[in-house]
Amino acid sequence: MIVLGIESSCDDTAIALVENGKKVLSSLISSQWDEHKKFGGVVPEIAARSHLSSITPLFRQAIQSAGISEQDIDLIAVTQGPGLIGALLVGISFAKGLSSALQKPLMPVNHIHGHIHGAILGLGQDLPDEQVFPCLALVASGGHTNLYYMKSPVHFSLLSATKDDACGECFDKVAKLLDLGYPGGPAIERLATDGQRHAFKVPKAMNHKDDLMFSYSGIKTFMANLINQYKLKGQELPLADLCSSFQEEALMQIIRKINQAKSIVPEKPKSLLIAGGVAANQRFRQLAAEHVSLKSYFPPLKYCSDNAAMIAALAWQHFQQQDDKIRSALEGSLIWDAFPRYPFEEYLFDPS
Ligand code: KG4
Ligand code: ZN
Repeated sequence: MIVLGIESSCDDTAIALVENGKKVLSSLISSQWDEHKKFGGVVPEIAARSHLSSITPLFRQAIQSAGISEQDIDLIAVTQGPGLIGALLVGISFAKGLSSALQKPLMPVNHIHGHIHGAILGLGQDLPDEQVFPCLALVASGGHTNLYYMKSPVHFSLLSATKDDACGECFDKVAKLLDLGYPGGPAIERLATDGQRHAFKVPKAMNHKDDLMFSYSGIKTFMANLINQYKLKGQELPLADLCSSFQEEALMQIIRKINQAKSIVPEKPKSLLIAGGVAANQRFRQLAAEHVSLKSYFPPLKYCSDNAAMIAALAWQHFQQQDDKIRSALEGSLIWDAFPRYPFEEYLFDPS
């Protein structure tokens, strides 16, 4: 079964073709970064217009590089949200048009859940689900810091999220204070490698045992004050130490919450999946290996940030996990509204 994935939620237009949920036939990304760079962040109007001009040629290129024809597509999967509405609308409208023209079913997919399937794609084709689930899954991106308990590849039980800024957003804001450009994560990570991790005592946020929520606004304010003190005194910024101390605590907050979550979920997790743009961070991988006693899976770098292979992979899982009745309804359905709500659904964790 070949699934076409379409992703346009933020500043990357992405198209992928994935066979049976695991084999990536092609995964193409058209980055808009050059268009947003001069504004220091993503401009929604520019993002939407740029998706509009790149989506059709990218689709044609993906079909060509996968070596298939449009008629070989069995299911069309598109990011339904969350994301920038103008940007999402381009992908969704394209997907609806294609579904209608090719007479192929269309499935909307949750972008955050898709990120987790970026990590699952990285597991390769041979690892059985029984060795991975139940698991804990963490998505740390520019917009979200969500921790899930997952009983299966399509069951997302939300344990906690951020009260304020997301982890990646905090990397971006601290990078902006340090004039490192956007996105901030990679620049901070590069500088941090030469710094002292405990040069500055960055406060521990949400450091109580019984609360799994995340918070990044306190760390951000601490860094802003620290940086301002240097600037007011006209002193040179110790960039490497600042980046290293900040990065260590920003990531350790997540590690602590994962360890707390392990003991409250109904069944002992067999693994930890870490996904989203922040999962590209190498120190994050080291910290997980050092401090978490679960087998941890991070996506290959190409599936950490936004891509469409993760969207196609999750849609395939949704399709497989449904009973025959729903599946035949999906197969016969070309209309968006005919989809049941399950692809978007996540459950709030109930400790009872
Ligand atoms: O998942 P993603 O590509 O897009 C969203 O859905 O938001 O995540 C982008 C975020 C940005 O905030 C970026 O600074 C952060 O991921 N990021 C990193 C690294 N690479 C990207 N954060 C820390 N370390 C990195 N190496
Ligand atoms: Zn994303």
